This record gives sequence, C-alpha cells and structure tokens, in this order.
Amino acid sequence: MQIVQTINELKQIISVNKDKTIGFVPTMGYLHEGHQALLNKARIDNDIVVASIFVNPAQFGPNEDLDRYPRDIDRDTELATDAGVDVLFLPSAQEMYPAESGINITVGDLSTKLCGESRPGHFDGVLKVITKLFHLVQPTKAYFGQKDAQQLAIIQTFVSAYNFPVEIVRVQTVRESDGLAKSSRNVFLSEHERVEAVHLYHALLLAAEKWEKTNDLNAAIAKGKVHIESNTSGKIDYLQALSYPDLQPVTDKTKEVLFATAVFFEKARLIDNILKEKKDV
Ligand code: PAJ
Repeated sequence: MQIVQTINELKQIISVNKDKTIGFVPTMGYLHEGHQALLNKARIDNDIVVASIFVNPAQFGPNEDLDRYPRDIDRDTELATDAGVDVLFLPSAQEMYPAESGINITVGDLSTKLCGESRPGHFDGVLKVITKLFHLVQPTKAYFGQKDAQQLAIIQTFVSAYNFPVEIVRVQTVRESDGLAKSSRNVFLSEHERVEAVHLYHALLLAAEKWEKTNDLNAAIAKGKVHIESNTSGKIDYLQALSYPDLQPVTDKTKEVLFATAVFFEKARLIDNILKEKKDV
C-alpha cells in the first residue's frame, strides 16, 4: 500500500493509473467494520482502491468535536492494508485548504432537514472536501454508507446535478451484534450509554413497524420517540420520517421512506436510520 500525504504525489499515482478503474472510499479515519465494508466492496469492483483519511475541518461547527475526533493512524493503516487498499491519502488541513478561496458550495433545501438543522453548514463542508477529493482521485466509483443517509442523498444529488463522472455506490449500514450502528463516535459513550444506545435502532424499527401496520406516520414517530425517551438518558435531536432520497414529506407517491434519528448523549451525538419501501395501501 502506498501512503501519500501530498496532492502532487497523489496526482502522479492517479495519472499512472488512468486506464484502470478506481474505487474511492473517503473517510475521517478511526476505521471500523462499517468503513471496512466500503473498502471490501471497492476492492471487489475495481482495479485500484484509493482511501482517504482526513478529519475535514470544513464540516465541523464551532462547538463540535473537531479537536477530539478520535484518531489512530497506525491502526487505520493496518486495517487499510488488510482490506487491500492500494493508495491511502492522508493530507493535512494545510495541504487541502492552503488558502481560503472565498467561493463556497451551498446545499440548499436538502440540508435544511434532519442533521442539517442542528449542524448548519455541515453538508456544505462535506461537499467542499468531496469535490476536491473527487477531482484529485478521479474515481470510477465512490462508496458511501447508508449510515449517513442524508450525506449520501446530498452527494448523490450533487454528483448527478453537476455531472461528476463518478458512480456513487450505497453500502448498507454495518451494526454491532446487538444492532447499534458502528460509528467512530461510539467510543465516546459511557458504559451505560453504550447499553442504551441500541435503542436508537429499536426505536426506528418500532416506528417503521407501527407505520406499516397503521399507515399513521405521526403515531409511528411518537412511538419511536417514547421508546428512546423511556430507554435512554439521551436527548432526542430528531426522529423523523421523510421520503428518500429527496427528503420531502411522505406522500402517496413516495417509494422509499427514511426513518432517521439523532440523539445527544453526554459526549457524543449518534445518528441512525432505516429505509422502508412504501407499500401501496
Ligand atoms: P466517516 O464518518 O469516516 O465515514 C466514512 C464513510 O463510512 C461514510 O460514507 C459513512 O457513511 C460510512 N460509514 C460509517 N459508519 C458506517 C456503518 N456503520 N456502516 C456502513 N458505512 C458506514 O462520512 C464521513 O466520514 C465524512 O463526512 C466524509 C464523507 C469522509 C467527508 O469528510
């Protein structure tokens, strides 16, 4: 595996491999089985696998966890090697953002819901880094987790609207054996919060089940919220159901419904979601 820290080195490797298919997995590191699933899929589909680890300051708000975001580059390097990554790109913030251009990407409506509401500017920052990374890596396919459903929807819409020559591949959420979605931020949970955290997933399942049985979305959401409130010490940021991937209110025309939640624990804000096909009633 080649480890590169500069844009120039990366460009050189990409230019040598321009006749090959390139699978790209962008990450912020502290890799776990969720990331691994993306890397495995990229390995199967492509000649070359490029992964990046960059804790992107542009997507963190002033009171968020940029400074204490978990990092373990030695473990990540080992995991990436084992997953068959060919090129690991580890740029510094200075390398990625040497000067402020004053030109920004603004997401608009898709970022006014769910995580966007409590993390203003977050998805603008995600698209800022993804745009740069896509231009540098020039991937044939890029892999994103369903775990971050809103991020995936926004990237998919962006790529399609602006004709980026890349195929976005959606990978299912990987969970712990009890059902908790794997996340780099799970390390911030205390012992009792870790036990409680699985109830985010349970609440989503209960809400979806209630909706499928009654077709009453308000009752379904209420049931999910009560479940989180009575089984965790966390504070609900949101629990909502929206059409996917356009994140609009569910109507008769909706095909896929996203049940999504975000909950604040003492040192971590966790998110989870499930997707359900809307059956005609
Ligand atoms: P990060 O949180 O490191 O996640 C990198 C990729 O791994 C994302 O596509 C995310 O959806 C996926 N992922 C995380 N947990 C997962 C799980 N349990 N199952 C499946 N996939 C999972 O998302 C980011 O980084 C950043 O916003 C990034 C896209 C790299 C831009 O900075």
